[in-house]
Amino acid sequence: VPDVVETIAGLRARLRATPQSTVALVPTMGALHDGHLALVDRARELADIVVVSIFVNPLQFGRGEDLDRYPRTLDADLATLGRADLVFAPSATEMYPDGASQTRVIAGPVAALFEGASRPGHFDGVLTVVAKLFGIVQPQFAVFGQKDAQQLFLVRRMVTDLNLPVVVEAVPIVREADGLALSSRNRFLGEQEKRAALTLSRALRSLATSGDLATARAVVASEESVGLDYLEIVSPSTFLPVGDDHGGEALAIVAAKVGSTRLIDNEAIHLG
Ligand code: PAF
Repeated sequence: VPDVVETIAGLRARLRATPQSTVALVPTMGALHDGHLALVDRARELADIVVVSIFVNPLQFGRGEDLDRYPRTLDADLATLGRADLVFAPSATEMYPDGASQTRVIAGPVAALFEGASRPGHFDGVLTVVAKLFGIVQPQFAVFGQKDAQQLFLVRRMVTDLNLPVVVEAVPIVREADGLALSSRNRFLGEQEKRAALTLSRALRSLATSGDLATARAVVASEESVGLDYLEIVSPSTFLPVGDDHGGEALAIVAAKVGSTRLIDNEAIHLG
């Protein structure tokens, strides 16, 4: 079991003890699954010291979202983190002593689309806490999952735009054998909902083979318990929808509500 540090001063003291070591940070909100552990494994390859942060960041949840319901499973999380060196698990007041940080990062225009369209302010909250974690841990590497593709895009943009001295590494989505992308929110799904949730990966597969949005959207529409939010093809370099004439690499992204649980997924595709 890794050492758990709850304060910024405590974490800094621990890291100061080995000043020559390189550090990789894996930012998480806990409720860890094999997708997170793949991030930890990648971090292990990159640096001498692996720090996993576990913090359910209130700033990135809107009113009426699932902040209170978000799973908090610290003991179980720690039991899975044998390959990490340090866990940083601060309280909300440790991170936001004044109730919320005074200064915030404002994400670029892409933050208003897709996830941001249903979750206003979400990405400002994500980038603010990620920037704080970068400042606190000062890692050489930070490892994020491809599952949150828009988040990954915006974190990379922040690092570029603000010249932050950290290398962002992405790790592919980990899926169940049936194709369902692992997510901390999957635990909210009943058996039937879990089956319905397979529609997301199926729609992405359909897009990968046909490149046709209408056909793939029909795949989702055929499952009545799934409420589609968006299914789009975006450019990996701009995260904006591609035109009909786009050829080459692209990213198919999807979000839908299954019962009361909102799920997202994505897949790199090639348009011929
Ligand atoms: O992806 C997440 O779990 C969160 O958005 C992150 C990056 C830990 C920031 O709170």
